[in-house]
Amino acid sequence: MADSIELVPGKHVQDYGYRHVLPGEHVYDGVLFFGYSPPDILDAVKDFRVRDDDVFIVSYPKAGTTWMQEILWLVVHDGDFETASKTPIYFRSPFLEFKDLTLNEVGLDIAHGMRSPRVIKSHLPFRLMPKKLDKSKVVVVFRNPKDVSVSYYNFYKSSSSFGDFTGTWRDFLIMFLTGKVDHGSWFDFTISWWKRRHEPNVLIVFYEDMKRNLKGEIRKIANFIGKHDLSEEVITRIANHCTFDNMKKNPMTNHEDVYSINSKISPLLRKGKIGDWKNQYSVSQNEDFDAVYREKMKDIDIPFQYEWKRSTPSEKP
Ligand code: PPS
Repeated sequence: MADSIELVPGKHVQDYGYRHVLPGEHVYDGVLFFGYSPPDILDAVKDFRVRDDDVFIVSYPKAGTTWMQEILWLVVHDGDFETASKTPIYFRSPFLEFKDLTLNEVGLDIAHGMRSPRVIKSHLPFRLMPKKLDKSKVVVVFRNPKDVSVSYYNFYKSSSSFGDFTGTWRDFLIMFLTGKVDHGSWFDFTISWWKRRHEPNVLIVFYEDMKRNLKGEIRKIANFIGKHDLSEEVITRIANHCTFDNMKKNPMTNHEDVYSINSKISPLLRKGKIGDWKNQYSVSQNEDFDAVYREKMKDIDIPFQYEWKRSTPSEKP
C-alpha cells in the first residue's frame, strides 16, 4: 500500500527519507526535546523543591493537559472562578520544564514564586521528574495514542515552537511512532507512568472517561487530592466551566493569545473528540500502528478507549 508505513523496528525516522528539525532541539537522557525545554532547565527540574501540597499534572502532549489543568486548578482553589477569569491557565499552572522568554514564561521561576498549593504541569517521563515526588499528588492523564498522534500532528503544523512543520501526516506518524517528536516516545512516557499506577500518590485519569462522565471524574480527582468537602454545586459549576465549548470560548484557557500558536491553522482546542483518528489514519496506517503498539506494549495492558461508545469501557488495538 502506498501510504503504509512499513515500520521496521529499530529503523530511525531519518531512514524513511524525512527529517524535521525542531528549533533548538537536543537529546536529553535519550529523549528528544525542542529548545523550549533546554538541558539546563531539565537539569534544574530534577532538583526542583517540591512542596508536600503540590499537585502535579503529568501527561504526554495532547492528552488533555490543559483540560486537567483548568479542572485541577479550580478544585484546588475551591472553585475560585473570579481568579480563573483573570489569569491565563499557563500562568496559574506553570509548565515545569518550559522556558519561553518571549512569553516571559519560565515554568520553574513561576513555580518558585507561587503561593501554595501549586498546580504544576509536566510532560516528562517518570525518570526525568523532580527527585522528591513522593509526598505530593500526581494526576496522570492518559488518552488513546491514535487521537494523541492526530492532535499532536495538527499542533505541530500550527505552532512555530515546533519549527513550522510542513511534512505530511505519514511523515508525522513515523516520527510519532519512533519517538522523534518533542518530549520523545509516547510509549516510553506511558510505560514509565503506568508502572507507578499503584503508588498512593499517583492517580491515572483517562481523557475518554472525562468525556463520558466529567462530573464523576472531577469528584474522583477531588477525593484523591483530599478535597472531600467540595460541594456538589461547585463540582457541577467546574464541569460546566470545563466543557470543550466553554473552554474554547474562554480566553483564559483557549491559548489564542499565545504568539507561537497560529489558531487559524489549528487551535489548541481543535475538536476535543474520541475517535477523530478515524478521519486521519488510512486502513494500512492503522494496521501498522497496531503492529508497533503490540510490539512495544507487549506485557502491558492499558484499557485505552479508541471509540465513542457509551457502553464499552475499553477497546484495544
Ligand atoms: S498540550 O499543549 O500538550 O498541553 O495540549 P493538551 O491540552 O494536552 O491537549 C490538547 C487536546 O485536548 C483537547 N481538549 C479538550 N477536549 C475535551 N474537552 C475539553 N474541555 C478540552 N480541552 C482541551 C483539545 O481539543 C486537544 O485535542 P484535539 O483532539 O486536538 O481537539
